[in-house]
Amino acid sequence: MPAAIAARPVEAPHALPLLGHAGQLWFRPLPFIRELAYKHGLVTLRLGPYRAYLACGTADVLEVLHDARTFDKGGPLFEKARLLVGDGLVSSDFTTHRRQRLLLQPAFHTARLPGYQQLMARQVDATLATWRTGQVLDLGHAMHTLTLRVAARTMFGARLDDRAIGEVVAAMPVIMRGVYQRMVLPVDWTHRLPLPANRRFERARATMHRVIGDTVRAYRRSGQDHHDLLSILVHGRDEHGAGLTEEEIHDQVMTLLIGATEPPGDALTWIFSLLAAHPDAERAVRAEADHVLGCRPATVLTPDDLPRLEHTHRVVREALRLYPPAWLLTRTTTRDTRLAGHPVKKGSTVLFSPYQTQHDPRVFPEPRRFDPDRWRAPTAAARLAMLPFGAGNRKCIGDEVALTELVGVTAAVAARFRLRPVSGTTPRPVARASLGADRVLMTVQSRRPNTVRSLPGRTGTAAS
Ligand code: HEM
Repeated sequence: MPAAIAARPVEAPHALPLLGHAGQLWFRPLPFIRELAYKHGLVTLRLGPYRAYLACGTADVLEVLHDARTFDKGGPLFEKARLLVGDGLVSSDFTTHRRQRLLLQPAFHTARLPGYQQLMARQVDATLATWRTGQVLDLGHAMHTLTLRVAARTMFGARLDDRAIGEVVAAMPVIMRGVYQRMVLPVDWTHRLPLPANRRFERARATMHRVIGDTVRAYRRSGQDHHDLLSILVHGRDEHGAGLTEEEIHDQVMTLLIGATEPPGDALTWIFSLLAAHPDAERAVRAEADHVLGCRPATVLTPDDLPRLEHTHRVVREALRLYPPAWLLTRTTTRDTRLAGHPVKKGSTVLFSPYQTQHDPRVFPEPRRFDPDRWRAPTAAARLAMLPFGAGNRKCIGDEVALTELVGVTAAVAARFRLRPVSGTTPRPVARASLGADRVLMTVQSRRPNTVRSLPGRTGTAAS
């Protein structure tokens, strides 16, 4: 909280002519956001021709999150996200959101978690069965491929074939970069120029639309109810008996596929990078995995086992604190209001950053230090400032699914492998629409013979 409220919100430093703060948000987004934290309650930013507010205190961020009617999705920056996900759940406005969320919610009911967990574990075991000692992994690529396979299997029943998986994994970073670029510099004509980056973005977008169109069509052709998320989207009815239109189904599938692939893929990349750099934490995760899993495959993990992976949970939480994939979020005000003691006019853009609240040194001493033990007995302030999944009625619908996946994958890998960074490659954060890492290369070391007997027709192969 600021010591005293300035007469007007302060403008953030380092604005450039024409670009405003777009340069800061593109070239040094994380230091820029950290430096603004807790110095002021509300700052103004200039993004090309637009002005935006950045809410800097946890209390103000929570106010934005919990008053979804006043701080709604929308505004010029948000329109850029709509380029991609249309009117899916993550981007729909207050009036359409409730209907959509009610339709989708059954797919995320806790009772469905054990089923998802089994489907996830099968994908994890299938992937780990292909790892060999000495193999060099592009960690980000491996984790995003895994989360995409899991998403396709758990949500859309149908397996995306390997070609489609490869296409989507390649398209996703181009899209995340392009959407972010359009958000920080929302000047339309620059994105219509025939530049290679713009062409790559359009191609990636077209790929995603094609793959999703094919998936939905194949699903419809099968004519069956598979009792999964896509079935709910195709067959679900709201309280007035109305279903989703073709376009709405497409937008929801796009939203869910991106939501279930990109953030968990980035989170897993960080988890294994952090573990490789912190041997004590890694040893503790390994010991816990040995205790709970032993040399059995991930498919034997049950929902009852997950709470026993206490240290692994703390590691996951701490990784999400240090590198929250959804690090910068935006809203638009639907009426004149006040924020951090300042009047804010209807139609204003308000940004906020879980990365910022999670790096407040008053709440998290030495905020840049990886310390899973800080989650042994977190303070009330730490719980409030920890917002990797957002809060309020726009909170991530997949938070439980995601935590199950992150903890399950971390334990399954730790039970059988060590990942060692190839010398000279240190992961560096890349903050775009999601907070990922640049190329991280890891060498795989098997801890024991890689036997995965639970998968029918598969015998263990890779030996240490
Ligand atoms: C580490 C993993 C994940 C992180 C960090 C994450 C983060 C978030 C955050 C911060 C929001 C709120 C955005 C806002 O307030 O503007 C959100 C919303 C959402 N997430 Fe996630 N997410 C993750 C995994 C998932 C998964 C696995 C799914 C789907 C299975 C998913 C689907 C969604 C959807 C549909 C929304 C929109 C919810 C609404 O507005 O009602 N996410 N996510």
